[in-house]
Amino acid sequence: MVKSQFIAEKERLLDHHRVLLITTGSVASIKAPLIVAELLQYRNVKVEVVATKESLAFYDRADVVKAGSYKIGDPILHIELRRWADIVLVAPCSANTLSKIAHGLCDNLATSLLRALAPTTPTYIFPAMNTLMYEHPLTAEHVRVVRDVVRYQIVGPIGKNLACGDVGLGAMTEWFDVVKIVVNQMKLTRKDDK
Ligand SMILES: Cc1cc2nc3c(=O)[nH]c(=O)nc-3n(C[C@H](O)[C@H](O)[C@H](O)COP(=O)(O)O)c2cc1C
Repeated sequence: MVKSQFIAEKERLLDHHRVLLITTGSVASIKAPLIVAELLQYRNVKVEVVATKESLAFYDRADVVKAGSYKIGDPILHIELRRWADIVLVAPCSANTLSKIAHGLCDNLATSLLRALAPTTPTYIFPAMNTLMYEHPLTAEHVRVVRDVVRYQIVGPIGKNLACGDVGLGAMTEWFDVVKIVVNQMKLTRKDDK
């Protein structure tokens, strides 16, 4: 590695922890503002949000714009974003996006940057869907491919009363547990800790 590259790499490490949150068209996207707000309680954390069009039905983009310098929908190159990210969360991950990842599709910014991601970038997928969608045999196959071939970490779903009225597996891991994974992975400290 030439010297300038080494310095750039070092500065990057000393700089910020960059968290990229991808939201998709699950009702659990209503938790995105909570995830962002909580992450920003930690030192040296920067958050950017990439929202699929469908996920924006579930939260107000103004509630996460404070996350970063880009606004949702800005034409950020997927390559720039994947270089920027130290950790990627797909929270929530819809059945549709899970399937797209398993099949290697890259037809929007979220799936394009995932295809361009270095395998060394920790990537966590938090599925969230109706119980029957989750129990559909194709879901197990998509989970298998995403976990064993693409090698992302799959967390959840959990069982509870779902927004659709069903009771069972399919809810996104609790939003504070999503944050906890980032905190542990990146060894973050809260701004209000002495
Ligand atoms: C009110 C509502 C709630 C939905 N909730 C979910 C959900 O929790 N999980 C899921 O996989 N799809 C859910 N869908 C369907 C997705 O939004 C749909 O499959 C969409 O194409 C997903 O697009 P995306 O993966 O690009 O975000 C919901 C749709 C509506 C209208």
